[in-house]
Amino acid sequence: MPPRAPRLQRRPGLLRQAAPHPDTATTGTTEPTDTADSGDTDTPVDPWPQPTFASPPEASDLDDDADTVHFALTPTPATFDITDWQTRLRIPIDGAVYGDSHPAPTLRAKVGDTVRVDVDNRLEDPTTIHWHGLAVPFEMDGVAWMRSPIAAGETFTYTYTVEKPGTFWYHPHFDTAAQVDRGLYGALIVEDPDDPSVDRDLVLLLDDWREDQSIPVDADHVHGAHGAEGLWTVNGDTRPLLEVTAGERIRLRLVNTSNQGYLQLGGGDAPLFVIGRDQGLLPRPEEVDRELLGPGDRVDLLWTPGSDAALPALEDWPYSLHGGEALGDPTPLLDVTVTGDSVAATTDDWPVEDRPPTPDTEAPAFVYTFQGSAHTDDWMINGERFPEVTIEQVPLGDTFVFEVRNLSATEHPFHLHGLHMELIARNGVQPAQYSDVDTENLGLYDTVRFRTTADNLGAWMAHCHILPHGDEGMMTVLEVVE
Ligand code: C2O
Ligand code: CU
Ligand code: CU
Repeated sequence: MPPRAPRLQRRPGLLRQAAPHPDTATTGTTEPTDTADSGDTDTPVDPWPQPTFASPPEASDLDDDADTVHFALTPTPATFDITDWQTRLRIPIDGAVYGDSHPAPTLRAKVGDTVRVDVDNRLEDPTTIHWHGLAVPFEMDGVAWMRSPIAAGETFTYTYTVEKPGTFWYHPHFDTAAQVDRGLYGALIVEDPDDPSVDRDLVLLLDDWREDQSIPVDADHVHGAHGAEGLWTVNGDTRPLLEVTAGERIRLRLVNTSNQGYLQLGGGDAPLFVIGRDQGLLPRPEEVDRELLGPGDRVDLLWTPGSDAALPALEDWPYSLHGGEALGDPTPLLDVTVTGDSVAATTDDWPVEDRPPTPDTEAPAFVYTFQGSAHTDDWMINGERFPEVTIEQVPLGDTFVFEVRNLSATEHPFHLHGLHMELIARNGVQPAQYSDVDTENLGLYDTVRFRTTADNLGAWMAHCHILPHGDEGMMTVLEVVE
């Protein structure tokens, strides 16, 4: 018999008073009964207050050893609600959690640490945990390819060392689209003593939820309220409010955990100050008006509220995976209130050494072509569907260039396990600076070249991080051999 899903409490302090569920409300409407004109003298309680921003909880280290971090994760079925206080929309999720919170706890380690994670699978299905963006030994990569997943009721301990600082994330890699969609994901942060010093280090796990999973609570506001992209949440909350003090230095670590939703981030009237992407800090921070964050991608921002480099809000500009920038107004993701007087933004010596991008001069060792059609939902790489694929092999220690082409009318976030890649050219154009990635979006008909060193033995998955595309077969294997 499947275990019963516990009903989750929200994080303490963020408990929202629930409006009557439409199934149980006598009138079928959601208008709260305790509004100001209900006649009683108690202070009216807003039943749909704007949530206060909170980072996900931090997992505690179960080990005393200074160089080992030891965590426990229990994938467990759970139901929880995603709500939109603006439209009074309630989406009940038949979900799953790692432990007792959605979203899952942040795992924090420092460069050189040994990470141990004990997983106790309480789901009804097999699962794995994949450490997205980390180069771990193949048997610790959490793939169900050439390795068995963790059966229901079984346990497994992942262990590896972390060599690179940055913002990574973890998620299942078995029945991936469905399990990630249920809410199984968390951030994994690797800190470096040389990281820029900040007053607050915030984690923002961004996800979108579909209205068709929803029970419309206030019918007038439901249809078309969020367009086709779904309802975006930040750590499970819609458009939370972040309260900050002028002069604080804040690092925001954003992860797009959505199965297939693209974000085109903007900062209200201010540019975004990007300090890091997939594989850690950039050689040179960049000021951008918009930052595209495809599924699986990360970006780190630095921000001093109250200064010129302030971020008045975080918003999502319309973006279509069938053709890029779309028309329309941005949707707010996060509101900000600043208290205190304005200050000057401080700049430090940047801890990363600048380096030029590698010139694109070498012939690619092989080419991956992404093909398929949204009409037939048929997705392939080089005309093959995983697992019936040709495995490209490269000898350990070799440095090589490969090319990825998108021949479909849909964008795809290309992701490679086990190795990281330098982006050396997009459509023949060198990037503005050295760029070390594990997930890179392929725009329509893009040709992108990567340079990689085969420094990690294993049969690494290379796939589209639109998870339903990957599950459909848009996945191949790049093997590093002895
Ligand atoms: Cu987020 Cu195959 O990975
Ligand atoms: Cu990955
Ligand atoms: Cu895809």
